[in-house]
Amino acid sequence: MPKTKQKHEICPLDELQPGQRKIVQIGKRSIGVFNIHGALHAVKNVCPHQGAELCRGAVGGTMLPSDRPGEYNYALDGQILRCPWHFWEFDITTGEMVFVPDPKRVKTYDVGVETSSCEHDHEDPRLEKYEVGVENKVVVLYL
Ligand code: FES
Repeated sequence: MPKTKQKHEICPLDELQPGQRKIVQIGKRSIGVFNIHGALHAVKNVCPHQGAELCRGAVGGTMLPSDRPGEYNYALDGQILRCPWHFWEFDITTGEMVFVPDPKRVKTYDVGVETSSCEHDHEDPRLEKYEVGVENKVVVLYL
């Protein structure tokens, strides 16, 4: 039987306007709640790289490759969270690490992995996301 999620009130919606964030502690979990262009997103406040307080990082955009070799465009403004330690970037809306290989500039080789015991293995550098919503003009997390 699935466990029922608990509701946690965070703040009045007025206190979390587009572009703003709140970092909250709920039990042992530190969570960043962001208003990205009017949509709420909640992510675990731990960088999957080496555990920095990711949600204290800068929010902005990132450079993505254009159709022309060697050219990049600034994109995804207001939804990219940059870790304050080593500057890995994550898309808050999807939880995915921003990583766009450019096959026009990088030669690739087939590789294989024979063991999963490597300490520095970053198999899925995706952020852990949580369900967040609004009830009666109050921001609510469901954990
Ligand atoms: S701890 Fe976040 S990029 Fe290294």
